[in-house]
Amino acid sequence: MRKPLVAGNWKMNGSSASSKLLLDGILAQAKTFPSIDVALFPPAVYLPQVQQAMQHSHIRWGTQNVSSYHKGAYTGEISATMLHDFNCNYVLIGHSERRCLYAELDLDQLVLDRIIAEKYHMAITEGLTPIVCIGESPEEHAVGKTEDVIGRHLDILIEHQGVKALSQAVLAYEPVWAIGTGRTASPEWAQEVHSFMRERVAKHDPVIAQSLRILYGGSVKGNNAAPLFSQPDIDGGLIGGASLDADEFVKICQAAQAKI
Ligand code: 13P
Repeated sequence: MRKPLVAGNWKMNGSSASSKLLLDGILAQAKTFPSIDVALFPPAVYLPQVQQAMQHSHIRWGTQNVSSYHKGAYTGEISATMLHDFNCNYVLIGHSERRCLYAELDLDQLVLDRIIAEKYHMAITEGLTPIVCIGESPEEHAVGKTEDVIGRHLDILIEHQGVKALSQAVLAYEPVWAIGTGRTASPEWAQEVHSFMRERVAKHDPVIAQSLRILYGGSVKGNNAAPLFSQPDIDGGLIGGASLDADEFVKICQAAQAKI
């Protein structure tokens, strides 16, 4: 049985005052989801605040990105070693907002895939669990290219890292058309893609594929989490907007808890 994981990606939202309210609200209800893994991904400047608030709970934390370099003249970047220094357990890699919104758009796709693979390697080297985000764009979705896109991302990751490295990772299926749109993928659709992903990994290593956690992300809310999480290959969620509201986020965590 894979342990469900619910990850809250705060993106670029909040202040120290609102983060405190959010953290207090989640912490006060943490006993209602005791057997799942939960991780919070605040903007990096709030990392010490999250660490301080959550250190004695079962809730963990991480960042929304990591540098592909060790250290040096890389203005604005944060290394995996620094994340380790703040006791991070997880890091998000390859989120579509980074793939699309930053220089990453101008890069040749192969260069982008290599950078993501390098970030993954950095995370693993520092003992962090990378949550690798993969998903098709609205255009790719419209022309039925989902499996091509997802399959290619997985193949590149496995080619760069070797399938064994996936035993230390989590995958997240985040269809770009579902992110922040309120247009959640149906549980059946998400299950089909998750099952495709697991089978793709199983071609290389069936044991790793069985234990690999695959999260769904894209407009997950308190009222639609349960049917998504009840699918056999959906092992939890990567939550954006709804992770900014303590009660909503807790409802999602409780839906994951109910899967156990
Ligand atoms: P929303 O839950 O706001 O759609 O965001 C999903 C996401 O991008 C999480 O990483």
